Amino acid sequence: MPDRPLFISFEGGEGAGKTTQIKLLTSFIEECGYTVCLTREPGGTLEAEKIRNLLVQRDGGDWTAEAEVMLLYAARHMHVEKLIKPHLEKGDIVITDRFADSTRAYQSYGHGLPLEFVNDIHARVLGDFEPDITFLLDIPVNEGLARSLSHLSQSSGDEKSEDRFEKLDTSFHQKLRQGFLELANAHPNRFVVIDATQDIETIQSTLQEKVHEALNG
Ligand code: TMP
Repeated sequence: MPDRPLFISFEGGEGAGKTTQIKLLTSFIEECGYTVCLTREPGGTLEAEKIRNLLVQRDGGDWTAEAEVMLLYAARHMHVEKLIKPHLEKGDIVITDRFADSTRAYQSYGHGLPLEFVNDIHARVLGDFEPDITFLLDIPVNEGLARSLSHLSQSSGDEKSEDRFEKLDTSFHQKLRQGFLELANAHPNRFVVIDATQDIETIQSTLQEKVHEALNG
């Protein structure tokens, strides 16, 4: 029974390849004998997935950035209390596809809300709860958007399509990338920045090395 639970988040703009890397890393950690709880934000519990639909689907609503943050934190509170903390208490490793840094990057750096607005709500709702490791998959905006648009063009494109955020313009995505990099600079002990233009195997071996260090170091 592992005695070292670890909370890992993955962050990055659109098309950075998080999904592929998360799947591979989950298999690696399971092969090391750990139980992994794989989850995502917004979402992760029944209630939080309902809020996800309001935020990311094309017909979900035209929210202000402030309202988005409050919806995201309602979802995040359910996610942390009902799923993440119970798994960590059991000794499982939790991997989430996005967490609070996405709110800081999208709603604050991207949409221009003061960072304190997000950090104040975070402190009220979750105290100092943050991931142990945050992997930031960093990719130039044009490359990320091209990858993500080719992926979207293969999906159905109806009102339930999850493309509301992808539709924002290139300058938004530039601010987002800068924001993630600034957050990584401000929290060097938690963030690991990965060049997501590298090939899948190279990225994966860096991730595995960092997780191995964290579990055995
Ligand atoms: P995904 O495409 O990685 O599943 O994420 C869903 C979208 O939600 C993505 O465009 C980023 C956005 N988002 C925010 O704007 N703020 C947040 O706090 C989170 C978690 C996601």
